[in-house]
Amino acid sequence: MTRPLSVALAGLGTVGGGVLTMLRTNADLVAARAGRPIAVTAVSARDRGRDRGMPLAGLHWYEDPVALAADPGIDVVVEAMGGAEGPARALVQAALAAGKPVVTANKALLAVHGAELAALAEQKGVALAFEAAVAGGIPVIKALREGLAGNRITAVAGILNGTCNYILTVMRERGREFAEVLAEAQKLGYAEADPSFDIDGIDAAHKLAILAALAFGRPVAFDAVHVEGIRGVSALDIAFANELGYRIKLLGLARRTEAGISARVHPCMVPLASPIARVDGVFNAVVAEGDFVGQVILQGRGAGAGPTASAVVSDLIDLARGRYTPVWGAASGALSNAPSLSIETHAGAYYLRLMVVDRPGVIADVTAVLRDAGVSLESMLQRGRSPGEAVPVVLVTHETGEAAMRTALARLDALDAVLEHPAVIRIEPG
Ligand code: NAP
Ligand code: HSE
Repeated sequence: MTRPLSVALAGLGTVGGGVLTMLRTNADLVAARAGRPIAVTAVSARDRGRDRGMPLAGLHWYEDPVALAADPGIDVVVEAMGGAEGPARALVQAALAAGKPVVTANKALLAVHGAELAALAEQKGVALAFEAAVAGGIPVIKALREGLAGNRITAVAGILNGTCNYILTVMRERGREFAEVLAEAQKLGYAEADPSFDIDGIDAAHKLAILAALAFGRPVAFDAVHVEGIRGVSALDIAFANELGYRIKLLGLARRTEAGISARVHPCMVPLASPIARVDGVFNAVVAEGDFVGQVILQGRGAGAGPTASAVVSDLIDLARGRYTPVWGAASGALSNAPSLSIETHAGAYYLRLMVVDRPGVIADVTAVLRDAGVSLESMLQRGRSPGEAVPVVLVTHETGEAAMRTALARLDALDAVLEHPAVIRIEPG
């Protein structure tokens, strides 16, 4: 067997620790598949004294992770620290500049700086691999970039954040409110102490930007993703969704049309019968549509030590075998310059819940606003009876343009009889 592939591991948390464990536990299998052993020889983390539940003896410890890039004994750098800036960015840049291939799980870094890092990798002729960055253990990067490479992909969508999917699942199953379930998710270690990247949709938007770049062969464009999170989803809307035959999911959706590329992350109602509606808890799922293959659905664990290690180690095996493709599937010069479409161009059905005063004439006022904005209704639902008090009124629209919907919402919000900001959730076919 040839000499081992020597790996430097920056970050020994969930991902880094998982990689070290997997490489040790499955060493023989990995060596057979890689054609040579893969050995971590140098590591870096912030706190050298921390007990990591695994032996680190014999590994060269670096206080400064960026210095790993200059170690001549290292073949590949694995970046598992996180963050779009700081040491993660500096290390990846330094390693690529030094002609060393890099494996990273860092979707924030790739979404924000992926274009410049890909250019550097291309200039140096080295790999920048990132299977773990999107949907954890689901091999979606390879599926899109290699497995479906012959297809013109028209759409890619999915449940890309396990924390949000867990929160929405528990809210539905136990009829509980968002804040309570978030606190529980934090206690269980699912959500970060600062969970805003997860619940505000930013983590899913990072992942969607990466998927859209791969699927449509265009430079990564995080700023073009429309982002809404799940803070505004209530237990009441989840219950109404169920009654109407839908599940509420935080989805990332990217589509290519003649006009350009749309990319959006927001809560959606999807029909109960759609495959994505049944993906619950911390699981992720990705649906891609190709012109020759049709629909492909991938599902699995999107986070955690085991799934992310599975993805990182698959990248290491590729590198050991000398396999790599350009970062975004094609050389930078061959990427598409299709324009990004704003959310204003979206059209679809909408769920709308209004808390209105229960008195005669209110529905007439509401429907007059919708009529004037050109919004057509498919159904309307009112439950309960409390004269003079607030009652929920639920409306489902026919296909409506986003701009018309926004006009209608502003006018509805201004009605005296509407007591809270309207709750709005876009309905997707699933
Ligand atoms: P984590 O558990 O917080 O671990 C981060 C590691 O990086 C820790 O070992 C930390 O050192 C080290 N680190 C942070 N700043 C450092 C610095 N300035 N210098 C040296 N070491 C530093 O994070 P994680 O969950 O493993 O996530 C790592 C990356 O993988 C992130 O980009 C994340 O988005 C991505 N990712 C994570 C998951 C997941 O399931 N967790 C899934 C997919 C992708 P100490 O241990 O000494 O503090
Ligand atoms: N915070 C992410 C999630 C995990 O909840 O899905 C890593 O991608």
